[in-house]
Amino acid sequence: MGYFRKNIEKAQGYTPGFQPKEAGVVKLNTNENPYPPSPNVLKVLAEIKSEQLRKYPDPMGTEFRQAAGELNGVPADWIMCCNGGDELLSMAVRGFCDEKRPLAYPVPTYSLYPVLAELQNCKAIEIPFDSEFKLPAKLVKAGAALTIVCNPNAPSGSFVNADELASLADELKGVLLIDEAYVDFAENNCTQLVKDFDNVIILRSMSKGYSLAGLRFGYAIAQSSLIEGLLKLKDSYNADAVAIAAAAAAVKDQRYFKENVEKIKRERQRLTQQLHTLEFNVPNSFSNFVFAENTNRKSSEIFEKLVQRKIYVRYWNQPGIDNKLRISIGTPEQNDKLLSALKEILSE
Ligand SMILES: Cc1ncc(COP(=O)(O)O)c(C=O)c1O
Repeated sequence: MGYFRKNIEKAQGYTPGFQPKEAGVVKLNTNENPYPPSPNVLKVLAEIKSEQLRKYPDPMGTEFRQAAGELNGVPADWIMCCNGGDELLSMAVRGFCDEKRPLAYPVPTYSLYPVLAELQNCKAIEIPFDSEFKLPAKLVKAGAALTIVCNPNAPSGSFVNADELASLADELKGVLLIDEAYVDFAENNCTQLVKDFDNVIILRSMSKGYSLAGLRFGYAIAQSSLIEGLLKLKDSYNADAVAIAAAAAAVKDQRYFKENVEKIKRERQRLTQQLHTLEFNVPNSFSNFVFAENTNRKSSEIFEKLVQRKIYVRYWNQPGIDNKLRISIGTPEQNDKLLSALKEILSE
């Protein structure tokens, strides 16, 4: 073809997790929440007026900004609404990086980061985590314009404490984006860092803890100076009227949210224990998934046999993680189906 910029012609693009169409599957491959969103969200959706669709939405999503600001103890103008957390990642790479301004991040991590770097034609400096997923000291030396730390990290589920990220923010000359897409399932978060440092952006997603992956809504938290810059990068109406109303209803219903998250954490603990009895190594997870490796059998083989039983988990045929399976935490029934299938497969 040759119509695109050279780096776009070369790029493979991002490969999203498989979305099976058939009925009766156990879908534990894309870290969706297995429970429905708050009933208040469904009520808001049922009551959408035709006027809300006829008119353009509020470009700033004020209702959501205010609700999220209150929830996080920051002013509303420290919040920016996004069409999913992924949109914020794309804006940040476009806004801070170019051929001379690299992106850095520890690996293994979210596989979208290198894809965004390739599209932007900026260098991606990948610094390996050690076997315990501690924050690599070399991140500072990389001298990147944008450093992304996914915390809790995907696919490992590991968590880096806020004080370590505070030291990193302090030492970096560029911006530190902390991708907290999974933070709802951890014990702590890094909101305080946004108050202490003018170079920190926090990413939040409504897809995981709030069960709204289909809605496409996420947000940034940062000091207003950074938010003002990010706003220049966004489409005028990046979050639609329905999404703004539904996401605001979701964050306002903290009671439902906390109950939902607790159910997943309980199942995470049970699934981890059960996987241990099946001779899987499962590091402690602070997310809504576990990263498991069987000590006797190849993950690729287990993965294929699960697919034959219509059970989908995530497997990457990539050096360093090619003997692991990332398993999203499902309902107790889904997890039981997975566990009995694993027992069968491992005894074959
Ligand atoms: C680490 C990480 N960050 C960000 C996102 C973006 O989530 P969303 O665009 O659904 O808000 C995801 C989605 O899977 C993720 O895994």
